[in-house]
Amino acid sequence: MLLPVIQQPDPRLREISAPVEKITPELKKLAADMLETMYALGNGIGLAAPQVGRLCRMFVCDVSESRDQPRILINPVLASHNQEKTKRAEGCLSCRGFEGLVERYAKVTVRALALDGKKMTVKADGLLARCLQHELDHLDGIIIMDKAEPAPPDRQDDAKKII
Ligand code: NI
Repeated sequence: MLLPVIQQPDPRLREISAPVEKITPELKKLAADMLETMYALGNGIGLAAPQVGRLCRMFVCDVSESRDQPRILINPVLASHNQEKTKRAEGCLSCRGFEGLVERYAKVTVRALALDGKKMTVKADGLLARCLQHELDHLDGIIIMDKAEPAPPDRQDDAKKII
């Protein structure tokens, strides 16, 4: 089922989302609907629960070109990161028409629960590292407008994939 993606300045985008206490059939349905919604949006590579108005700590993402490697992270935390940072243009499914350069850690390790309740560790660099940090921000009510600086025209192609 496709879900409406709420848009800035909806105040729900600014809330701190609550931890998931139990993985219920309803939560699994929400995850499936979020993936379906993200894929339907074409260039979306990540979607956090608060973006569909559900203030719980879960997001979905898929940075693969083939769009067939979905990830679902529940109660994710940034466990570690290196010191190197990179700056690239980002867009956001909840900030249509806006893009800007955002500085992120180049390499991160994120711990989370999978949909079956098992612990998972995701070590990421490149686009996935950027996507994970963008989605983690959503769970804390932070959006790219808080962090972005204007993208010069020659850098705007970076934001064709929106998170
Ligand atoms: Ni976003």
